[in-house]
Amino acid sequence: AYVVTEACIRCKYTDCVDVCPVDCFREGPNFLVIDPEECIDCTLCVAECPVEAIYAEDDVPDDQRRFIALNAELSREWKAIVERKEPLPDADEWAKVKDKLDQLER
Ligand code: SF4
Ligand code: F3S
Repeated sequence: AYVVTEACIRCKYTDCVDVCPVDCFREGPNFLVIDPEECIDCTLCVAECPVEAIYAEDDVPDDQRRFIALNAELSREWKAIVERKEPLPDADEWAKVKDKLDQLER
C-alpha cells in the first residue's frame, strides 16, 4: 500500500484524493491517511501531492517508517474523503516545516 507521511500534516492539500480510483483516503483534522486494506498501488496519488508526502510502503524513508502503522491505525478511525477541498489555512507555511509530527491532531 501507499503511505501518507509527515509532510501532509497541517497542509492537507487534498489533490491526492481526486485521483484515487478506490477512494481509500481517510481524513483527520489536519492530516490524511491511506487505508492499506483498500489501496491498490496504482501510484496515481504520488505525483499529485505538492509536498511529496506519499510513498510506496517499501520506499518510505527511514525517519518516516512510523507512518506506515499510523496510516493503518488512523484509517480505521477516520472517515473517507472523496473530493478535493481547500487546503488548511497556512498550508504553504507548514509545507516548509520538516519536523511536525507533534502537530498531528487525532
Ligand atoms: Fe489511491 Fe492509488 Fe494512491 Fe493507493 S496508490 S492511495 S489506490 S491513488
Ligand atoms: Fe496531504 Fe499531499 Fe494529499 S498534503 S492531503 S498527501 S495532496
